[in-house]
Amino acid sequence: RMYDVLVVGSANADLTVRVDRRPGAGETVLGTDLVESAGGKGANQAAAAARLGARTALLAKVGDDAFGELLLEGQREAGTELRHVLVETGARTGTAMIVVGPDGDNSIVVSPGANAHLLPEDVEAAREAIAASAVVSLQLEIPPATVRAAAETARDAGTRVVVNPSPAPDRLDPELLAAADPLVVNEHEARHLTQLVDGTPEAWARSLRDQGARSVVVTLGAEGALALEAGAGEAVAVPGVKAEAVDTTGAGDAFTGALAARLAAGASLPEAARFAVRVGAVAVTRPGAQPSYPTLAELPPEPGQFT
Ligand code: RIB
Ligand code: NA
Repeated sequence: RMYDVLVVGSANADLTVRVDRRPGAGETVLGTDLVESAGGKGANQAAAAARLGARTALLAKVGDDAFGELLLEGQREAGTELRHVLVETGARTGTAMIVVGPDGDNSIVVSPGANAHLLPEDVEAAREAIAASAVVSLQLEIPPATVRAAAETARDAGTRVVVNPSPAPDRLDPELLAAADPLVVNEHEARHLTQLVDGTPEAWARSLRDQGARSVVVTLGAEGALALEAGAGEAVAVPGVKAEAVDTTGAGDAFTGALAARLAAGASLPEAARFAVRVGAVAVTRPGAQPSYPTLAELPPEPGQFT
């Protein structure tokens, strides 16, 4: 096996400003100093998995600019294999404009830049690496045809596929859904994709499995997560881990990267979700996405475990 986790996805420079209050339309507010850090849902997942010790590679595209360097440096620090990070000459690296509110909650606008140039042929060129990985992890900040090519290539090779449908589309590609094992959604994505606005996490998970996902994980922020395995009659609730949230940006990506790493190591879905909840709980206590991701040594003890 070449990699535990191969992430196919986006890489963005995160430009973050904190505010006391979000501006409404037509309004101006003053925020804090600008912070530039490495982000992007794909790069975040890869950094999370690598930092936890999984052999990880990232298939992504950045531009030949300073933000591209920032992204490469972030992956280098985390310990990701960089062979599949492609540099598109003349393109700008993807950029995310992030506003973080007083509770650590965020609003994000992404300008795709070089992410839009990651094409099915780039997936084709990485076919061997995909086939030689335990898990391929996907999100939706790159062209849909590229995501689909990655899912199909992985599925045909017997590589497990983890899908985080974020940003949430109006309709999920049925091929992608059918490959998802698991589909990882937060509450917002679950509501959007199931149309069950008042549903329970269990109802969302069942609905998404009925729609075709092999298995489903619903992340619930401070409340933990819910795991519904393929063929399981009942979902397993994973309790939350107490954490003082300062910035939730990329916490979901930390969760998904950690989940993929644990699944690659042979854990069951509920075991992997339990581990990922602990990783996400650390990520929210520190500013930024990738800079906030923990190593194994930085993880708090398992709930109920005394040290
Ligand atoms: O999920 C968080 C990420 O979303 C940020 O790092 C930003 O780049 C956007 O992709
Ligand atoms: Na964080």
